[in-house]
Amino acid sequence: MGEVHIVDHPLVQHKLTILRDERTGSKEFREVVSEIATLMCYEATRDLPLREVSIKTPVAPAKAKVVKGKKLAVVPVFRAGLGMVEGILKLIPPTKVGHIGLYRDPETLKPVEYFCKLPPDISERDVVILDPMLATGGTAVAAADALKKHGCRNIKLMCIIAAPEGIAFMRDNHPDVDIYVSAIDDYLNDHGYIVPGLGDAGDRIFGTK
Ligand code: URA
Repeated sequence: MGEVHIVDHPLVQHKLTILRDERTGSKEFREVVSEIATLMCYEATRDLPLREVSIKTPVAPAKAKVVKGKKLAVVPVFRAGLGMVEGILKLIPPTKVGHIGLYRDPETLKPVEYFCKLPPDISERDVVILDPMLATGGTAVAAADALKKHGCRNIKLMCIIAAPEGIAFMRDNHPDVDIYVSAIDDYLNDHGYIVPGLGDAGDRIFGTK
C-alpha cells in the first residue's frame, strides 16, 4: 500500500508561502516551484538503493556508498508539471523526462489524453508523476492509468499542494502509488480551485493571466 508523505520541512513551508502569496510574480514563482521540486525530490528518493565502492580519500582507503544505477523518469503533466522538471534534473541529471497532456472533456468532465511521449524503456524505470496541484485527482489518476498501460509498476506522485478530495480519489484508484505533497489544504471550491491554494499554477508559472 502506498503512503502519503507530507514534506513539511521548514524550508519547503517557507517557499510554499511565497508561492501562495498573490504578490509573487511569475519569475519568482517559477524559481520557487523549481526549488520546492528539488527539496521534495530529496525526500521522494530516500528509498534509492545504494552499493558499496572502494575509494581513496586524501587520508586513507575507504569503503563508501554510491547510488546503485536505478533508472528513473519523471513525467510532468502539462502544463504546470513542467515547472517542476528542472528542479529534479538539477539533483539527478540522468533522469529521463516523459510528457503527458490531458484535458477535461466538457461533457463527460473526464480527462482525455491528447499527448503522451515517454522514454522507450519507461516500463523499466521508477516513475514520478509531477503535477503541482492535486485538485479533484482526475488528472493524476488518468496519468497513472496511462503509465500503467505502458507497463510502469513503480510510480510515485509529487504535488506541491493537494486537496483532501484529490488525495482520496488517488488512493481509491491507485492505492499502490506513494504521494509526496508539501501541504494538504482545506477543500476544493465550486470552480475546482484548491482553497486556500495558490490560484492557477500554470498561469502563475507561465504568466498567462
Ligand atoms: N489547478 C490549479 O492550478 N490550481 C488549483 O487550485 C486547482 C487546480
